[in-house]
Amino acid sequence: MTAPTFRPATVRQRLTGPVEGSTHLAACSVAPRTRDMDDAVATMLDDLSRPGFWEACEQQMITARRLFAGLVGADVDQVAILPNAGVAAHQAVAGRRWRRRRDLLTTTAEFPGIAHVWQAQSGATVRWCGTTAGRVHEGDYLRSLTTHTGFVSVPAVTYRDGARLDVRRIVDAAHAVGAVVFVDAYQAAGVMPLRVDALRCDYLVAGTGKYLLGLPGLAFLYVRDPDGPAPTLTGWLGRTDPHAFRTVGLDTPAQARRYETGTPAVAALYTAAAGLARIQTLDLTQVRRHTQRLVATAAMRLAGQGETVRVHPSDAQGAHLAVVDPYAEDIARWLAGRTIVTAPRGEVLRLATHAYTTDDDIDAACEAIASYRHHTGTRGGHR
Ligand SMILES: Cc1ncc(COP(=O)(O)O)c(C=O)c1O
Repeated sequence: MTAPTFRPATVRQRLTGPVEGSTHLAACSVAPRTRDMDDAVATMLDDLSRPGFWEACEQQMITARRLFAGLVGADVDQVAILPNAGVAAHQAVAGRRWRRRRDLLTTTAEFPGIAHVWQAQSGATVRWCGTTAGRVHEGDYLRSLTTHTGFVSVPAVTYRDGARLDVRRIVDAAHAVGAVVFVDAYQAAGVMPLRVDALRCDYLVAGTGKYLLGLPGLAFLYVRDPDGPAPTLTGWLGRTDPHAFRTVGLDTPAQARRYETGTPAVAALYTAAAGLARIQTLDLTQVRRHTQRLVATAAMRLAGQGETVRVHPSDAQGAHLAVVDPYAEDIARWLAGRTIVTAPRGEVLRLATHAYTTDDDIDAACEAIASYRHHTGTRGGHR
């Protein structure tokens, strides 16, 4: 394999379909369609029309698991392939015994589906840090940890505001009080360096449908020590030898595969392997610098245009920017009419950058937002 490098143009040339001639600033929600995806789906259909489809799928699982493990610096035995981040969160937390350490510390900035899993755990007392408006800093976590904390959940980058937390600081403090740490890296994986040995987390989840340039329908769960009670949500892929097809009897392997369930969404699987292979060609340190610069440029320009922008210091900013407006959906529709794809969520319009994003994309978005204000007579942050 050639050394990873940074070739925004190469990645951009892989965009296809309507996104080819458009500005895709929505990877915090969904990846743009790429030729890699098209090729992967075509391969899947070819495989489907030949004998040996399941063997081909299995090869894709092996490839996807290896590439994700490589991306985060894990061993393949520490990676489980699951249908979504919510199921991954469930697998990480279910079966824990909540005795003296009953507290599960999460944040109001957590992606809702992950927080729902935490709240569904009987026996755990969910503690929240962060503001009621869903904003959080490392300090909020550090202040909330106690000797009763057993499990801590940290988003590497928050899904709405794009705040990038100092996960390592939180992990070290959580470990010091004897808690384990789950990191939701869905908004980070694929667009910045992410190494489990540097983070020292116990669990890490990332789905394929955003910055990893795959389709939705698959998530990876890294588990530092895959042991403990056997999962009760399971299936044939969670067996020591999935091909034994023993109906009576249940064994549990020592690898993270123990958390797997049944057949994955195969289109998502093929495209996951393709997206991860594309990401592997990129130097993510350079991609990170590139997106930091673009986000800072967009923030400065939009603030200058009178927009209310939620920015953080460069190091504490993920790859997307949140522009505040109670009618963010309306702005997104206006931009979509000008072939600019963004990701509104509640009262913010999110503009997400990646390796393929250019200064022209940022110019186009800023100009279109200015034209929306002019056309509607509205002001930034207000209607
Ligand atoms: C931070 C984060 N976690 C999780 C998810 C999705 O979770 P799931 O795969 O369970 O739908 C998203 C976005 O959809 C997200 O932004």
